[in-house]
Amino acid sequence: MVEAVANIGVVGLAVMGSNLARNLASREGNTVAVFNRSHEKTDTLLSEHPEAGFVGTTTYDEFAASLAKPRTAIIMVQAGRGTDAVIDELTKVFEPGDIIVDGGNALFTDTIRREKAVRETGINFVGAGISGGEEGALKGPSIMPGGSAEAWQTLGPILRSIAAIAEGEPCVTHVGTDGAGHFVKMIHNGIEYADMQLIAEAYDLIRRGTGKSPVEISEIFTEWNRGELESYLIEITAEVLKQVDAKTGRPLVDVILDQAGSKGTGVWTVQNALDLGVPVSGIAEAVFARALSSKPEQRAAASALPGPSSTVAVDDPDAFIEDVRQALYASKIIAYSQGFDAIVAGAEKYGWDIKKGDIAKIWRGGCIIRARFLNRITDAYAENPGLVALVTAPFFTDVVSKAQDSWRRVVAGAAYAGIPTPAFSSSLAYYDGLRADRLPASLVQGQRDFFGAHTYKRIDSDGTFHTLWSGDRTEIESEGSSH
Ligand code: 6PG
Repeated sequence: MVEAVANIGVVGLAVMGSNLARNLASREGNTVAVFNRSHEKTDTLLSEHPEAGFVGTTTYDEFAASLAKPRTAIIMVQAGRGTDAVIDELTKVFEPGDIIVDGGNALFTDTIRREKAVRETGINFVGAGISGGEEGALKGPSIMPGGSAEAWQTLGPILRSIAAIAEGEPCVTHVGTDGAGHFVKMIHNGIEYADMQLIAEAYDLIRRGTGKSPVEISEIFTEWNRGELESYLIEITAEVLKQVDAKTGRPLVDVILDQAGSKGTGVWTVQNALDLGVPVSGIAEAVFARALSSKPEQRAAASALPGPSSTVAVDDPDAFIEDVRQALYASKIIAYSQGFDAIVAGAEKYGWDIKKGDIAKIWRGGCIIRARFLNRITDAYAENPGLVALVTAPFFTDVVSKAQDSWRRVVAGAAYAGIPTPAFSSSLAYYDGLRADRLPASLVQGQRDFFGAHTYKRIDSDGTFHTLWSGDRTEIESEGSSH
């Protein structure tokens, strides 16, 4: 007879699951039951970490019996069908009031579907985004849980006990109902894609513009990490760039195949942003840049295409590097601004009450996009919760206005030199589009009306108009309006 001694359980003991279980076990008051489909993983975890006091279980019945009520279990398996299989098993052995948490990178619409189905059994289902990789899972991740307020009552204290701490506050909040947590995690990953691409472009520009070696550029990133760009991704970039390949003695970055992989969360961000009508151009370009990199045949066929006659003319390397730093900062702000726009639109569409300021707060620590300037985003939303675009907050407007000359020089210089900077360029184009008094969208409307009678609106009167374009007949007709 198994005793119900554990207050939390973990199903799925690959690296993320094991590390999360160890993190849970290390916090006072937690006793952790663990289960894995193949028992060897459970045995290994138990024998390698006796200090954790895990309750090892070999069947779902035993797992459920080892948990005190309301039973709470976190699923840490590969997102997709595996998750559904575990949910099926758990719903057989759990009871109404118990809580099933999916801590994987699930697609939020799957989470909405699963939450609805599980709720019908009386069991709570919580989709929780967990960011921070293997180390974050072990030492303190940023956690983005959705689900019901009832589930949050029990789950909140447990998740708070394992989350990263930023400025004295745990990096976890109840994001919203059903799929809200996984939606926000998806956007987090989209911003992560943009940030990584921007950093990669900065590296490429400096390397090709100044001829500096990866190790020298690593030092530049280390230096940048002491200032306003301080962030986890800048920090690890410095580490990656200084790594030397043991086999060849060359910089490791030169030996790694230049074809970027992806597991899908960036693609989901862009697909959903397209549906929501939110321009997340920086994120989209980052996704496309990975896609382009992974087309070796096309790249080989195109490698003989002509490039510009000149190379980048960098007279003053230090000034150029500072320009790139400024361009990176400004473009990063755009990526976050676009990401928050997508959160606002998603919240509206799916009926979630997501507090942008709270999201900025829980991204300050533990997660992959943690950065010093998230404090500024937190401040911006605290000062003005209704801020319509992050980049229009006074602090960020000031940063961008200081950075913009550099940003323009970098993008223009890269175009002249034939260095691809899709994320830098699209971020600048977005910025200029956003601030433009007039956009050529008026011409697009005219074209639409010309070939499809799609109608347009006028700047000087209400209503909907259509022009008879043929010949010299340019009358304006109103449709369904007082005009
Ligand atoms: C995190 C990461 C994590 C994972 C991504 C990587 O927040 O901890 O984002 O979720 O590393 O899935 O995504 P790609 O494989 O698509 O780059």
